Amino acid sequence: MASFREHCSLLLWLVLVAMGQKMAMASIYDDVEVNWGQDHSFFYTDGGGDELQTLALCLDQSRGGSGFHTKEAYLYARFDIDIMLVPKNSAGTVTTLYLMPEDVPWDYHDEVDLEFLGNVTGEPYTLHTNVFANGVGSREEQFRLWFDPTADFHTYSVDWNPKRMTILVDGVPIRNFKNRAGMPFMTWQKMRLHGSLWNADDWATQGGRVKTDWSEAPFFASYRNLRVTWCQPSPGVAWCGDEPPESTRFDEGLDADALRQARDKHMIYDYCKDEKRYKQGSELPKECTSD
Ligand SMILES: *[C@@H]1O[C@H](CO)[C@@H](O)[C@H](O)[C@H]1NC(C)=O
Repeated sequence: MASFREHCSLLLWLVLVAMGQKMAMASIYDDVEVNWGQDHSFFYTDGGGDELQTLALCLDQSRGGSGFHTKEAYLYARFDIDIMLVPKNSAGTVTTLYLMPEDVPWDYHDEVDLEFLGNVTGEPYTLHTNVFANGVGSREEQFRLWFDPTADFHTYSVDWNPKRMTILVDGVPIRNFKNRAGMPFMTWQKMRLHGSLWNADDWATQGGRVKTDWSEAPFFASYRNLRVTWCQPSPGVAWCGDEPPESTRFDEGLDADALRQARDKHMIYDYCKDEKRYKQGSELPKECTSD
């Protein structure tokens, strides 16, 4: 295996194997395009089936990282995807999942970020999240995952509708950003779901103190089972997906108790509670003090 480990071509043979087989129906292969690092990211079949159902993004020192985005852009949708993060010494690496519009000036762009900050072997990943609405971000919240995200695939979701944007991990809501009267929310920019794996050892792990160990490269993160439930709210159609849910009110369908419990247990940083940051005369963002 030693020669495979030198760069990201490790999975090339899997792709060749897979290409010889019949390509089947829905899979991540059909719904996304690799837009960065095409030469070292790979669709492959990992279950012995005949679908290219898994996308492995790769990071190595000479060619850098890689990334993909959905072919379609959406205004309101629920995105679910399964990810298995870089195992062992992942310090310095960042695996991402984010929503981003196109052709919208930075000054008023919307964005939703999930960034998985790697760590040295045995130490926990940090899930760093942020929300930009109308160009304003700085809404960082961080979480510790309650499982080893490198041992298996886990489901990460962004449920975005006109009332709220909720981030879920294995179906458990951890963050809810509401559309509040008079406050910015992501209401008009169509966004694509993106994923990437890159090197950010200037800041990612323990504040940048721990650098990427390139002798461990190539690094891989795998994505599969993308499900996009789009919604197009318009008069008379007030839900996402084909079937109306039990409640057609977007603010319902969120388990507030589960959200509160998950935040109590797993949140390690909350911008709304960062006293140092808002002490120096800068005002606490409005959403921090409203319901
Ligand atoms: C890495 O592990 C250290 C020690 O447990 C922890 O303080 C830190 O938050 C972890 N995550 C990152 C991204 O540094």
